[in-house]
Amino acid sequence: MLLITGASGGLGYELFKKLSVDNELIAISNKKKLENNGKGICVNINLLNHQEIDQLVNKYKRNLNKITVLNLAVKSYDGLLANYPIEKVRETFELNFFSNIYLVQALLPIMINQKWGRIIHFSSLVGDEGAKGAGIYAASKSALIGYNKTLSKEYGRFGITSNIIELGYFEKGLIESFNEEKIKKIISNTSSRRLGVSDDIIHAIKFIQQSDFYNGEILKLNGGK
Ligand SMILES: NC(=O)c1ccc[n+]([C@@H]2O[C@H](COP(=O)([O-])OP(=O)(O)OC[C@H]3O[C@@H](n4cnc5c(N)ncnc54)[C@H](OP(=O)(O)O)[C@@H]3O)[C@@H](O)[C@H]2O)c1
Repeated sequence: MLLITGASGGLGYELFKKLSVDNELIAISNKKKLENNGKGICVNINLLNHQEIDQLVNKYKRNLNKITVLNLAVKSYDGLLANYPIEKVRETFELNFFSNIYLVQALLPIMINQKWGRIIHFSSLVGDEGAKGAGIYAASKSALIGYNKTLSKEYGRFGITSNIIELGYFEKGLIESFNEEKIKKIISNTSSRRLGVSDDIIHAIKFIQQSDFYNGEILKLNGGK
């Protein structure tokens, strides 16, 4: 069973549409309503509310077999660090970091019991390199690194892996607010001379699902830089 947070987002929606063709999945969005198609169960929850996460896991406990969780939900407010409002810092970390921790805590007992689990966090090259105006987003993503590594060390022996897919620039999602000139520049700075597409991510997910030996890593998917 796949569990996708951020399933209504630019990238999440592409993954949801393609993966629901031949996978059982639970697609989680916050406010946007998703069409229930075929094998997909679509739910709206606010991941900032830990009770809603518990209720979701309890409700679908019986469906949760061989879980792969894709943590895509994200919040990003642009702003220079000198006067970035502290409440926005907290809000960003609440979703991009704390909600991952809470969802994983709710799922781990099931994964341990089944001796199988795949935890996949999504990060950004901005988390590695920083970017003007995106410092708190970057910080919330790089916080995942130590968390991911420790998950792999604590739960690898139960057949559970935890990895980060670190994305470069993709056709959908956060990039849609960039102007044409900026996108052209990004493409010309990318060795593969294109933006990423959802199939690139699906190949990476399938690879991670197939191996219990790939664990605690950061899989960089950025077309070469
Ligand atoms: N797109 C890129 O080029 C790119 C590059 C690097 C990394 N990434 C990473 O890839 C992932 C997906 O990015 P994206 O571009 O698809 O993001 P996006 O389009 O901004 O989508 C954000 C998603 O998060 C959900 N969400 C927001 N607040 C929530 C809450 N409180 N509770 C539950 N869900 C909530 C939204 O649900 P609603 O629609 O219901 O509000 C939406 O589905 C992110 O982790 C991002 O950091 C993307």
